[in-house]
Amino acid sequence: METFFLLSLLFIIHSSPATSQILASTPTLQGEWRLLHESIGISAMHMQLLKNNKVVIFDRTDFGPSNLSLPGGRCRYDPNDDVLKTDCTAHSILYDIGTNNFRALTVQTDTWCSSGAVLRDGTLVQTGGFNDGDHVLRTLAPCNGENCDWVEFPGVLAQRRWYASNQILPDGRVIIVGGRAQFNYEFYPRNSRTSSSNSIWLNFLRETRDENENNLYPFLHLLPDGNLFVFANTRSIVFDYSQNRVVREFPSIPGGNPRNYPSSGSSILLPINENTTPVESEVMICGGAPRNAFQLVKRGTFLRASSSCGRLKINDRNPTWQMENMPMPRVMSDMILLPNGDVIIINGAELGTAGWESARNPITRPLIYKPNEESNRRFSTMATSPRPRLYHSTAILLTDGRILVGGSNPHVYYNFTGVDFPTDLSLESFSPPYLSPQYDSLRPRIIEIDEIVSYKNSFSLTFTVQRFMKMGVVTVRLVAPSFNTHSFSMNQRMVLMKGVQVTCVDYNVYRVDAIGPSTAEIAPSGYYLLFVVHAGVPSSGMWVKIQ
Ligand SMILES: *[C@@H]1O[C@H](CO)[C@@H](O)[C@H](O)[C@H]1NC(C)=O
Ligand SMILES: *[C@@H]1O[C@H](CO)[C@@H](O)[C@H](O)[C@H]1NC(C)=O
Repeated sequence: METFFLLSLLFIIHSSPATSQILASTPTLQGEWRLLHESIGISAMHMQLLKNNKVVIFDRTDFGPSNLSLPGGRCRYDPNDDVLKTDCTAHSILYDIGTNNFRALTVQTDTWCSSGAVLRDGTLVQTGGFNDGDHVLRTLAPCNGENCDWVEFPGVLAQRRWYASNQILPDGRVIIVGGRAQFNYEFYPRNSRTSSSNSIWLNFLRETRDENENNLYPFLHLLPDGNLFVFANTRSIVFDYSQNRVVREFPSIPGGNPRNYPSSGSSILLPINENTTPVESEVMICGGAPRNAFQLVKRGTFLRASSSCGRLKINDRNPTWQMENMPMPRVMSDMILLPNGDVIIINGAELGTAGWESARNPITRPLIYKPNEESNRRFSTMATSPRPRLYHSTAILLTDGRILVGGSNPHVYYNFTGVDFPTDLSLESFSPPYLSPQYDSLRPRIIEIDEIVSYKNSFSLTFTVQRFMKMGVVTVRLVAPSFNTHSFSMNQRMVLMKGVQVTCVDYNVYRVDAIGPSTAEIAPSGYYLLFVVHAGVPSSGMWVKIQ
């Protein structure tokens, strides 16, 4: 008993993110690609992971027959459809991670270039699209029955939302910002207190549109103080949406290259660390394309994409962009936070822009970026996939730490032959190096966990690991699953939990105590994946509800 008590004391460990990146950086490890399906029948233009470990995937509905029939012999009638007035094929599926199976879902109105967010209860709210779908709001609950499907609510949106971005807010609403020729935003559900049920003008969106637009799918990040960071073209603001007020504007990102569609770069909010006071936030934006790249494609010139990344510390008194270069130029890449706090930069091309037939030289090698490394050691190059992932490709983090990759349809229709980059219906996964069997002995396995994480309250879990490093190398991280399309992961967020204490409770078994997030601004209520990261090696994620 006494020995056990002593042992426990010895193993009380306080987390320190600086030492958590201890994972030996073995240059030979480049991760592993795996083909999950040669065809899922549709092109994965949009993806969202739900709390039942199923992934909702959908593309647009009006570019011809997909390779998958609608369930129940259903058809869709659309007099505005360019290709088919009657389409009996599906344009959405539900993919089950555990079984690697999928089934067709029914979408009746056009979801092309739309946006989404997951509500507190785990239901996906998807907004907008094109044509008959541009004012439609659709929901998909994380249900398991065979009949579980999309529910569509026509006319809910105040404005047409095509190329808009969404962010879940601390009060549980969703803010929907911009879209083609929409210099405004709206909320779902609508604020009943405001008399106008309409949208609210945001001049910043008007100001940031240039001759090629270059401000669509604006980058949105909810900041820990509750304001919204909005980036469009080369400019960025802190926006107080409750007062409709621009709180501050940051310097333009250097270099002059726009970062939003069609000059699509990508943007992430780096992990929010609750162990620092005040809780700081930092945005990173990578890739993009020159301002006139979209126009020049029409004349047969494919300009080199931008290879620069910029990091901006929002809390600095005079924030300036810290610039660095990726090993190659990239446009249309996705940036995803890995469970250990690294960033994967995946998909995209070296030349051209987003848009139909507008890119060349696909980049099939992902990069991993380590934000806390010394500046010359941050990027490492991963293994090559055999498949180009250009316009309309997607990538999301899965529960087990893999990246799910799909899509690539740079054509107006489903073109499988006679084009440079045929429409791709395949689904792949990429396993980052931390999933290598070489790290199995360091990999934590969660064996028991509180499923509810309450704000400011203590929380605990137990995990087992074969080889425990006797240092402050355990962090606990909450990851909000994001809605991915057009190189941007809406609602992507990672919070490092504070007050982490690790106690040895049995042979190779450890208990972790931590404190729930301080505020709903830091972590809006809802379902998150919780990862224990030990020596840079993450556990599999467990779903917890923050409330
Ligand atoms: C999809 O269907 C088309 C025609 O129906 C066919 O030509 C093509 O090979 C199929 N592609 C895949 C990837 O299944
Ligand atoms: C794609 O296929 C459609 C017919 O399905 C055809 O009209 C169109 O020209 C093709 N696009 C290209 C770029 O070849």
